[in-house]
Amino acid sequence: MASINANFLKLKAGYLFPEIARRVNAFSEAHPDKAARIIRCGIGDVTEPLPEAVRQAMHDAVDEQGDRATFKGYGPEQGYAFLREAIVENQFAGLGIAADEVFISDGSKCDTGNILDIFGSGNRIAITDPVYPVYVDTNVMAGNTGEAGESGAFEGLVYLPCTAENGFVADLPAEKVDLIYLCFPNNPTGTVATREQLQGWVDYAKAHDAIILFDAAYEAFIQDPLIPHSIFEIEGARDCCIEFRSFSKNGGFTGVRCAYVVIPKTVTGSAPDGTRVPLHQLWSRRHSTKFNGASYPVQKGAAAVFSPQGKQQVAELIEHYMGNAALLREACRTAGLTVFGGENAPYVWVACPAGVSSWEMFDKMLGDAQVVITPGAGFGAAGEGYFRISAFNSRANVEEVCRRIATIFG
Ligand code: MLT
Repeated sequence: MASINANFLKLKAGYLFPEIARRVNAFSEAHPDKAARIIRCGIGDVTEPLPEAVRQAMHDAVDEQGDRATFKGYGPEQGYAFLREAIVENQFAGLGIAADEVFISDGSKCDTGNILDIFGSGNRIAITDPVYPVYVDTNVMAGNTGEAGESGAFEGLVYLPCTAENGFVADLPAEKVDLIYLCFPNNPTGTVATREQLQGWVDYAKAHDAIILFDAAYEAFIQDPLIPHSIFEIEGARDCCIEFRSFSKNGGFTGVRCAYVVIPKTVTGSAPDGTRVPLHQLWSRRHSTKFNGASYPVQKGAAAVFSPQGKQQVAELIEHYMGNAALLREACRTAGLTVFGGENAPYVWVACPAGVSSWEMFDKMLGDAQVVITPGAGFGAAGEGYFRISAFNSRANVEEVCRRIATIFG
């Protein structure tokens, strides 16, 4: 009999977003008269069409695949040079990142989970709370945790609470940890970290020989010119940081799939005998073995994000979603709710009215307003008492959500 990876059995609930979808489907079946009114502001999934520059580049790439002279089979596992170079030129200019330190993939969800392949067991792992659930669940699957306690927190992880008091930027750990997950602009709270705060994290990592896994999937939404877009803008980061980036939210690639990881060759981990080994080398080896590269048309489409037209069209998409975020913030504030985030990120983080739990809020918004939000508790114990509204939607839908918020809290 084949035995299973029993770590999966520690995962008590289903993955958050399918669980929300399940509850929304159950509601629709029970209330067919209201099903058509449902507006989804739960999962952060883009709604606006792919930029024209991206579509054109993908069409052209498909045509190349239709001609023997330009047809391409397997590409380089780490990504085509044209895309890796365009990324460095457009996103990391002056930050000392080389094109071969960029690894193209089919998504940051996979990358942030797969990265655990190159780390050993026994690391102390710090996770902010609330947090993007993938960081926690993949550590559970990898056997890096014990069982979940009553609050849902897993034994063995170091949870760093993000609260209104600390501006939703976790304090540095009181103990020594080896791996730290940070996400800025933050999912789910929509808040950002200042240069000084990020410097504090890099200094901590260097002092404690830790690695920061920095998820910057939402960097394109930063409006404040003082907020860093990359951890590599921070002094010392090249020695201790890995950064995850995605085309999902800026270029609208959630259905197309393209992302990348930046691993400077100077970031090392320790082998059992104490030898320092570049993580770049391990990730490159992993990519070659377990991945055959993102598809050529997709990488061509991603590169078009950096063309002059692509930049203009992406800027328009960002402006659209951030306009939505501003409307949602205002509607919640006018309704008397306390609002965070949504100024440098497409997520608005809202305190539930006193005494209302986040899943109760989910039920109320769905039942009374037919608006799907994400309950804060789904992101961790410290998310209880909050809910997240995603600004990824059409303007008409967001305006309707704002009207319904006014009605149910009016
Ligand atoms: C979210 O809603 O948190 C994100 O869409 C999830 C993701 O990007 O995988």
